[in-house]
Amino acid sequence: MSEIASTDPEGVDGVRMTWNVWPRSKVEASKCVIPLAVTLYVIRPHPDIPRLPYAPLRCKTCSAALNPFARVDFTAKIWICPFCYQRNHFPPHYNAISETHLPGELYPQYTTVEYAIPHSDPNPPPSPVFLFLLDTCIIDEEIEFLKSALKRAIGLLPDNALVGFLSFGTQVQVHELGFSDMSKVYVFRGSKEISKDQILEQLGLASSASARRPMKGAPFPNSGVSRFLLPASEGEYTLNSLLDELQRDQWPVPPGKRHARCTGVALSVAAGLLSACIPGTGARIIALVGGPCTEGPGTIVSKDLSDPVRSHKDLDKDAAPYFKKAVKFYEGLAKQLVSQGHVLDIFASALDQVGVAEMKVAVERTGGLVVLSESFGHSVFKDSFKRVFEDGEQSLGLCFNGTLEINCSKEIKIQGIVGPCTSMEKKGPSVADTVIGEGNTTIWKMCGLDKSTCLTVLFDLSSSDRANTPGAVNPQLYLQFLTSYQSPDGQLVLRVTTVTRRWVDSSVSSEELVQGFDQETAAVVMARFASLKMETEETFDATRWLDRFLIRLCSKFGDYRKDDPSSFTLNPSFSLFPQFMFNLRRSQFVQVFNNSPDETAYFRMLLNRENISNAAVMIQPSLISYSFNSLPAPALLDVASIAADRILLLDSYFSVVIFHGMTIAQWRNLGYQNQPEHQAFAQLLRAPQDDAQAVIRDRFPVPRLVVCDQHGSQARFLLAKLNPSATYNNAHEMAAGSDVIFTDDVSLQVFFEHLQRLAVQS
Ligand SMILES: *[C@@H]1O[C@H](CO)[C@@H](O)[C@H](O)[C@H]1NC(C)=O
Ligand SMILES: *[C@@H]1O[C@H](CO)[C@@H](O)[C@H](O)[C@H]1NC(C)=O
Ligand SMILES: *[C@@H]1O[C@H](CO)[C@@H](O)[C@H](O)[C@H]1NC(C)=O
Ligand SMILES: *[C@@H]1O[C@H](CO)[C@@H](O)[C@H](O)[C@H]1NC(C)=O
Ligand SMILES: [Zn+2]
Repeated sequence: MSEIASTDPEGVDGVRMTWNVWPRSKVEASKCVIPLAVTLYVIRPHPDIPRLPYAPLRCKTCSAALNPFARVDFTAKIWICPFCYQRNHFPPHYNAISETHLPGELYPQYTTVEYAIPHSDPNPPPSPVFLFLLDTCIIDEEIEFLKSALKRAIGLLPDNALVGFLSFGTQVQVHELGFSDMSKVYVFRGSKEISKDQILEQLGLASSASARRPMKGAPFPNSGVSRFLLPASEGEYTLNSLLDELQRDQWPVPPGKRHARCTGVALSVAAGLLSACIPGTGARIIALVGGPCTEGPGTIVSKDLSDPVRSHKDLDKDAAPYFKKAVKFYEGLAKQLVSQGHVLDIFASALDQVGVAEMKVAVERTGGLVVLSESFGHSVFKDSFKRVFEDGEQSLGLCFNGTLEINCSKEIKIQGIVGPCTSMEKKGPSVADTVIGEGNTTIWKMCGLDKSTCLTVLFDLSSSDRANTPGAVNPQLYLQFLTSYQSPDGQLVLRVTTVTRRWVDSSVSSEELVQGFDQETAAVVMARFASLKMETEETFDATRWLDRFLIRLCSKFGDYRKDDPSSFTLNPSFSLFPQFMFNLRRSQFVQVFNNSPDETAYFRMLLNRENISNAAVMIQPSLISYSFNSLPAPALLDVASIAADRILLLDSYFSVVIFHGMTIAQWRNLGYQNQPEHQAFAQLLRAPQDDAQAVIRDRFPVPRLVVCDQHGSQARFLLAKLNPSATYNNAHEMAAGSDVIFTDDVSLQVFFEHLQRLAVQS
C-alpha cells in the first residue's frame, strides 16, 4: 500500500476505478468478479485545474461538454463528439482557434476544467444560511458546552452569512431575531406532525409565500423570512445574548421517564422555515442533538426508561416498533429538503443513541455532515464543530446546490451511485436496468458537497453484442462527469472531468486487465457495496458474500495447478486484496453487532463519502511502530507487533491510538523523559504524539485520540484491530470444502490457507 500512498493515485481528475482497462462485453465483465466502479472525488481542489471564465460548448446531440478527446478539424471549424460521434460546428467566437492556439478545454492535460458561470440572477440570494437547531433536553453542563461551542462558531462566521435559531425540547421554539431588545418566540407543539403550510402560516410567512413575487433587489422572494435570519455581521451581540438566556427544557420529567423530545417536529419546522427561501439558496440546518426523539413524528423509543433504544438484535428480529415509521418520516423530510436544495447536518452528542440510524437518510441524501460523540464537551464534537466554520487552509470548503451529470460511451450503463446524493430520476439511454444505490437516472442532486466529498458510481455494460462490428468499435471508452455547484465565495462553477480508458478483449488475454486492477479502490468499493446490501437486503450474509467474491476472484486470477493449494500464487496487482477482505470481514462494517445502530449508520455514512485512502484505513487501519535506534516504520497489523520497548500508533480513521509498551510506560511513569540525559526517550515519546496530531488536524470529523499503555483497559482500542495470530488454536478443526471459510476471528494465516485451498478446487 505504501507505493500507492506515496503518489497521487486520484490524479488531477480525482478519479479512481476498480478496473482501469475494461472488458469488452457484459459476459466478460461479470467474469471479472469485482464490479466496474468509478470513485469520483467530486470537487477536489487541485492547482493544475484551470478555471475558464466562460460556459462550455455542448454537443448538440448528447450535450456532452467539449473536451480534449474530441477530434477537431481546425480548417472546417468542427469538433466530433467522442460520445456520440456528432459533428459540431464551433461558434463564431472560436474562429481564432488552431493547433497552436487552443482554448483551455482542448489542452490535452486539461481533462478536468472548471467553468465560472456568470449568475443569471443579478441579485442572487444571500448565503450561506446557517439555521441552528438546539436540543435543550440536556443537563446544564451539556448546555454550557453547547453555548460555548456556538459562541465560538458565531465568532468565526463570515460577515455575509445569515443565522437563524430554533430550540426544541417538548416543544419547538423559533426565535425571531429582528428585535434586539425584545426577543420574540414562536412555539410549536411537538406531539403532532405539522405540514409546511401550517408552519409558514404560524410564522406569518404564508401570505407573502402565496403571493411569491420577488421584489427587485430584495434578498428573498419572501422577505418575511429575514425576520428569522440575521446577518452574522450585525448579529453577534443579539445571538450571544440569546444564547445566554437559553435554558434547559423546563417541562417536568416524571421519575423513570425520558424527556419528551420532539426532534422530528423541530426538523420539520426548520425545513418549513427554509422553504420560504429561494430553492437552491445555500442553506443548512445544523441540528445539535443530545438524546433520542420520544415525542411526535420521528420517535425512536418510548418515554419509558425501562424500554431501551433499539439494538441491531432488535432490528434483526423485527422487534424495533418505531424504526420503520421514523425512517419513513425522515425519508419525507429528505425529499422536502432536496426539493428545496437545503442541507441537514447532525451533530449528535450523547452517551446513548439519538436516532442517527433513522435520520441517516436525510443527512446522506442532502449531502450533510454528521458527527457522533459522547458529549458536547468532547474534543470530537468541539473540534469538529469548529472546523465547519473555519476559513482558509483548514476550511472544509462547503459548497451548495450541486448537480452531477454523467455521460458515457454508449456501451456503458449506469447502475447508480453510493454516497451523499439523491437521484433526480432522470432516465436516459445510459441508465441500467438494475439499480444500485441512487439510480434510475443520469443526474443527481447534491444539496451540500465539500472539497472531500467522494461518490462511487457503479457501471454495467450493455448486453447487445458489439463484437459484430469490429471495425467500427472505438478502442477507447469515455466517461464525462459534469458537476455544477455554488462555491463558498458564491461563484457558480461547472466542473467537467472527461476520462478515457481502453477496452480489452479479456476473453483472449487477461494480462492487461490484471495490470489495470486497483486493489485499494476495489476493497473500498466492496466495503461500500456490502454495507449497502446489509442495509437493504434482509437476511444478507455479508461474510459469506465477501468470501464467495474473494474465492471466485482468486480462482479466476490466481496462478495454480488444480487441487494443489501449495502451488497457488497471486499477481502483485491482487496480492494485497485478500488481506483487505480479511480485515473487512472483521471490521465494524461487517461485524455490526459490536456497535449500536447509530454507530453503524455513522460509520457507513463516512465510509461512503470519504476518499479512498481514508476509507481504506477504516477497513484496514495503519499501524506505525516507534522504537529506539530505528526510524518510525509501518508494522504488521498483528498482535506480534506489540513489544514492551515500542510505541505503536494505530490509525483506524475514527480513532487514533497511541499505545505504549510496558517498559516504555514504566520509564515514562518514572519521569525519565524529564531528565536531561534521556533526551532520546523524550523524543521517542513525543514523535507519535506529533504524528497523531498531524492526522487529527486535517481530518473531519476529528477522530478520537486514545493514549494507552500495554495491559491498560484502553488497550482494547488497539487489540480489537489486530490480527489474532497468537490464538488460532481451533483453526484445523474447521470443515474443509465449505464455502464459508471461517468462523470469526481466525488469523490471517489460517484465512490464507483456507482461501488457497478453496480457490484451487476444481
Ligand atoms: C441551483 O442549481 C441549478 C442547477 O444547476 C440552477 O439552475 C439554479 O439556478 C441554482 N440555484 C441557485 C439559487 O443558485
Ligand atoms: C448525456 O447526458 C445528458 C443529460 O443527462 C443526456 O440527455 C444525454 O443523453 C447523455 N448522453 C450520453 C451519450 O450519455
Ligand atoms: C426505477 O424506475 C422504475 C420505473 O421507471 C421503477 O419501477 C423502479 O421502482 C425504479 N427503481 C428505483 C430503485 O427507484
Ligand atoms: C484524503 O483526505 C485526507 C484528509 O482527510 C487528505 O489528507 C488526503 O490527502 C486525501 N487523499 C487524497 C488522495 O487526496
Ligand atoms: Zn455527443
